[in-house]
Amino acid sequence: MILFFKKLFLTVAVIFTATVFVSAQNQLFIPPVLTGTTFNLNVQTGTQTFYIGTTTPTYGINGAWMSPTLIVNKGDSITLNVINNLPVATTMHWHGLHVAAMNDGGPHQIINASTTWSPTFKVRNNAATFWYHPHGEGKTEQQVSKGLAGLFIVKDAAEALINLPRTYGADDFPIIVQSKSFDVLQQIAIATDMDTALFVNGTLNPFLNVPEQVVRFRLLNGSSLRSYNFGLSNGQNFYQIATDGGLLDSSISLSRLKLSPGERVEILIDFSGMLSQSIFLQSFGSELPTGIYGADTVGMGMDSIHEYEENYLNGIDFNLLQLNIVAAIANPVTTIASSLIPYNPINSSSATNFRTIVMDTLRLLPMDQPNLAEGPFGMNNQTFHMDSINEIVYLNTTEVWTLKNKTLIAHPFHIHDIQFNILEKSGLPPSPSENGWKDVVLVMPGDSVKFITKFETFADNITPYMYHCHLLHHEDDGMMGSFLVIDTFNISTTEITQSTSVKIYPNPSGINVTVEAMQLYGSTITINNILGKEIFRVMAASSSQKINVRNFADGIYFLKVMNNNNQATIKKFIVSKN
Ligand code: C2O
Ligand code: CU
Repeated sequence: MILFFKKLFLTVAVIFTATVFVSAQNQLFIPPVLTGTTFNLNVQTGTQTFYIGTTTPTYGINGAWMSPTLIVNKGDSITLNVINNLPVATTMHWHGLHVAAMNDGGPHQIINASTTWSPTFKVRNNAATFWYHPHGEGKTEQQVSKGLAGLFIVKDAAEALINLPRTYGADDFPIIVQSKSFDVLQQIAIATDMDTALFVNGTLNPFLNVPEQVVRFRLLNGSSLRSYNFGLSNGQNFYQIATDGGLLDSSISLSRLKLSPGERVEILIDFSGMLSQSIFLQSFGSELPTGIYGADTVGMGMDSIHEYEENYLNGIDFNLLQLNIVAAIANPVTTIASSLIPYNPINSSSATNFRTIVMDTLRLLPMDQPNLAEGPFGMNNQTFHMDSINEIVYLNTTEVWTLKNKTLIAHPFHIHDIQFNILEKSGLPPSPSENGWKDVVLVMPGDSVKFITKFETFADNITPYMYHCHLLHHEDDGMMGSFLVIDTFNISTTEITQSTSVKIYPNPSGINVTVEAMQLYGSTITINNILGKEIFRVMAASSSQKINVRNFADGIYFLKVMNNNNQATIKKFIVSKN
């Protein structure tokens, strides 16, 4: 019955949509560009009229709504002045960029109202489409939905040598797709599953005039929840040229491309010979597999999302952007570059450390019955805490992370600081579309994904980076963890202490070391060697734990105690057997 009503409503909705597209189309907003090495980002409040007769409060950067596109060159040192003119605190995260933790704009780099945060860093990433958005503790969805999200495009010399469209707003277009919820007063609402308003670059019912030649789209899924299955209404293929972190090895001809929240791709579309035609960029939601937000079903029975069936966008195909083909512009690109940038993934046998992140529901109270589709969710049985550290990584180590999804909804996992290579997804090597540098990967219900990465360049004993689900409800509800990257060569005699009074003796030692602390019981003790490789692990069974080091080679080691509150203490010790 519900299904019947849904389909009936769909028919009505489709007719309605068609009417809207004829009568109430809006030219796609192309966010203005900022370039150079100093960027002033004035974060401010504003209003927009999305629906006739109502005023919706919004946020914007250097304007009332949405955020400019930043274009930078690899190798440049840049300064970003984030001027917070909101009445509330914010943060600004450079999603995908390899920067020091203190410049990352995670929840710890709070920018209070009426203050300015000015990180300076060198652009180290390869040419790619990144983005930037707020990341405040529990505040990401609200601030992103209200308009704070922009592209952060990196250019480099290798990309410049390839015959690709690259004139912003002429043959190279930002395409930020977001679904939003509005409440009865037409105010942007969060933590709802009624995200039926579809925006591209902050424009409702948009059209774009595209020249009759090869055009590049930089697609970002900036939605809070919804995944899209992109395709063109006339069935023509397009060509994927990049993943999150840069260009692919070679372009891939596709008719469909799935993108989950936080992910980006770059595609080429060949409009040659199509003058005066109009087609649509669509999402073929009817083809999304069960479990992905946007598919016909997510979860089952008691483990379902409230109102999911009532959201008419779920499980249907819909238009996102009308493309009107107009006359070619000067110096058009007319061919699809086939070979792009050689892909040299990290050698999987070089990994020395392995970790597993389990995505699962969290029981907050003993009698709670957590919903496997709706949450609350955690990672490794924890929710995010500002003063905890969940993982400690040693600088210059190569690690394999395994992500396991024990819930009934697909979660897009994102990690800061690094780009990774997917090794395995659903038991298979990555598809060509994901066989490149990534910083977000969608983990299907019941599935596990393995990726490899190397933690390089930046270490900080205090400020962590984040990893989290990029469904913004989930992130805000605490489906996030933190990790420190620590430079073992930089730890003086005994340091990094988050919890008090962990003792380790004797030091140096040749036979045993004893670890002692008041609340040691139940803590995890690990020992890593000077290369960061974990060589020993035990769960402390009392307040004093003796560890046999007779089989350790002489040298320097790092002993880490992670207590039950995820507070870490790291002590350096020396094994010397003479
Ligand atoms: Cu796009 Cu941690 O964020
Ligand atoms: Cu999630």
